[in-house]
Amino acid sequence: MTITIAIDGHSSCGKSTVAKEVAKELGYIYIDSGAMYRAVTLYCLRNDLVKEGVVDEDGLLRQIHNIRIEFRKNPETNKNETYLNDENVEDEIRNPEVANMVSPVAVIGFVREALVELQREMGRMKGIVMDGRDIGTVVFPEAELKIFMTAAPEVRAQRRYDELIAKGVSVTMEEILKNLTDRDRIDSTRAISPLRQADDAIVLDNSRLTREQQLAFVLRLARERL
Ligand code: DC
Repeated sequence: MTITIAIDGHSSCGKSTVAKEVAKELGYIYIDSGAMYRAVTLYCLRNDLVKEGVVDEDGLLRQIHNIRIEFRKNPETNKNETYLNDENVEDEIRNPEVANMVSPVAVIGFVREALVELQREMGRMKGIVMDGRDIGTVVFPEAELKIFMTAAPEVRAQRRYDELIAKGVSVTMEEILKNLTDRDRIDSTRAISPLRQADDAIVLDNSRLTREQQLAFVLRLARERL
């Protein structure tokens, strides 16, 4: 059987790493739903739709139909990359400017409606691993396997810090921890589709697990359902 796998959880706990590897092992499509919220945020930043840290919702509503988000496979790396109106924005959407504005954009109802519709369309044929915040609760409530990933905030901050420093981005541990806990708070307390564990989700706390252990955990559960 071909199944749908939903991986939700807190910011920076390695959801995408696990999701990508699971998809590769099973020959499934991997979709990073956070990248879609980040692409909309980048569009807002570029089009003067953020003023003093506040999103111009009316302006965004007028322009939402101009925003086209796609994933295209890079033939060299074989990885999916995010495109915003035909431009590859895979790297730019990971910048701190986008990370700092993405949660306020992701609380907007019409943004979520548009992206959830797109996500369901991408998962219509199953054979998909999608990671995000509301995949098991809202996007694919019928998913055969739902994982809820988490890890201690300090562990997550350290991992993100190491990743950004390795890329040459100058950040402090305090900034990272603040961005992460702010995002957790906004994502978990928003009115529409807050981050929460689906009743039938299986928790994966990876504070003390290696990548291989996490992969093995999810793959075992997935194979039981195939
Ligand atoms: O997974 P990520 O950190 O790239 O996600 C970026 C932001 O997008 C995150 O702070 C919350 C939002 N998001 C969401 O609201 N719903 C999703 N399904 C995925 C991400």
